[in-house]
Amino acid sequence: MALLAPELVIRIVACIVPLYLIYSLLYPWYISPVRKIPGPWWAGYTKWWLVYKTWMGVRAKTIHDLHLKYGPWVRVAPNEISTADSEAIIPIYGINSDFVKTEFYTYQLRGIPELFTMADRKAHAKRRRELAHLFSMSTITEYEDIIARNVRECMNLIAAEGKHGKASNLYDWWHYLSMDIICDLSFGLTFNMLHEGAENPHVKDIYGSLEIEPVRWHFGWLNKYAHLAPFKFIRDAEACSVRGFERGRRIVHDYMHASEKSHRKDLLQKMIDARDDNGQPLPEDDLNIQATSFIVAGSHTTSSSLTWIVWRILKNPDMLRKLNEELDSALGTANRQDVPSHTFLEDLTYLNCIIKEGLRIDTAVPGSTPRYVPRGGAYINGRYLPERTIVSAQAYTCHRDPKVFPDPDRFWPERWLDETPEMRKFYIPFGAAGPRICIGIHLAYMELRVILAALFHRFDLSFAHYTSDESMDMHELWLANPKAQCLDVIAKERN
Ligand code: HEM
Repeated sequence: MALLAPELVIRIVACIVPLYLIYSLLYPWYISPVRKIPGPWWAGYTKWWLVYKTWMGVRAKTIHDLHLKYGPWVRVAPNEISTADSEAIIPIYGINSDFVKTEFYTYQLRGIPELFTMADRKAHAKRRRELAHLFSMSTITEYEDIIARNVRECMNLIAAEGKHGKASNLYDWWHYLSMDIICDLSFGLTFNMLHEGAENPHVKDIYGSLEIEPVRWHFGWLNKYAHLAPFKFIRDAEACSVRGFERGRRIVHDYMHASEKSHRKDLLQKMIDARDDNGQPLPEDDLNIQATSFIVAGSHTTSSSLTWIVWRILKNPDMLRKLNEELDSALGTANRQDVPSHTFLEDLTYLNCIIKEGLRIDTAVPGSTPRYVPRGGAYINGRYLPERTIVSAQAYTCHRDPKVFPDPDRFWPERWLDETPEMRKFYIPFGAAGPRICIGIHLAYMELRVILAALFHRFDLSFAHYTSDESMDMHELWLANPKAQCLDVIAKERN
């Protein structure tokens, strides 16, 4: 076969390269099937700007600003769309949705599929069936003793600090308390973080492994080479992940082979007892990774929410007074040191409005919960999205739609006295209603009610020093927490 003359090759290349460049320049905004979805021009060409914002802990706020500018549909990266259209929630997240979780999830927790990370719909439905009863309203009452024991411990420690006029950093206390509760439930042993006043090594490893969340988000496929990474922080996070996994494995093994089992009322025992459709138990490694996932999902979420709610109440003396009146009338004034039973709290109107409003305005998972558009693409509210487009709605924006939540930046618990269907649809602190909604929702509400009631019923609280709004602003690495990681209060026992 005759070779092409070099000049001809050069001419062909000289034609193709500029054509390719022109095509690439035109593609995102003139040719792509999502060209009509608005957004900053650079988002059509690269996701790197979003990687940077993720790294800086301001991803959700940045996307929110884009929604304010461009409307309910925004293109945030070449292949990624954010929506704040209420008509989009059910098609993406609802019960019959074929949209599946992206690799953002699947690379977490050593890549071993578990309830939170599973993308495959059938596998997820199977696991959810196996575990759903562990979190039903009737089952979680069995965990109340474990919760109450830890709450009592925590309140006594706060009381001891207040007695000596010392400030209590509630951010820390809620962190230790929520960890001790969820570790107690998930691994069947107490990590004593409340008493130590410090993180347990296992918890340190679990959270250490999450340090590279933004890296995983965008470069999940590099995960298996993390131990070879040129950056020490990536190697360290990987080492935490390996150590955490091995330690968890030992804990589960010891738990399963311990001689004394009769008193157990925790999640781990219930997971061990769970059977799949063929009567098979969960393998030990699955128990380990599932328990670890519960710890990640059920600790920071609860503790950050508690910190923000207490801060909001203390800023509003009228709300504080109303809450105290409600608690006193429901629980009496004689035994303030008792941890209230959840049955007395479930129907307390004001307490529940406060919690709902707290989770609306300061959401522990404020950002995108990304899903892939299924095979064949999808039409949502008249918009076509090609298959494998990443699409998501973020709570931070849904919770701030002024048509649904008037005066959205105001903490206003009373708005929940008159809850509309639109509010229900756009209220997604635990994810949207559907197969992937938080399985721990009842447990979370139970913890929030019991802890807030125990705190406000027992103590007169005041800020220990000036606490700026800035310091309580969120920092977000998917899970969000108050920037300063500090809420110093003086807690005096009420009589
Ligand atoms: C205030 C506390 C909590 C908040 C704000 C919260 C929020 C969320 C959100 C937004 C999701 C959906 C994630 C997504 O679709 O990408 C989720 C899922 C999940 N949460 Fe929670 N959560 C909380 C407490 C808990 C607790 C206490 C547990 C208990 C172990 C828990 C376990 C889970 C699990 C296992 C999933 C995955 C469910 C599935 O995909 O089937 N969460 N949570």
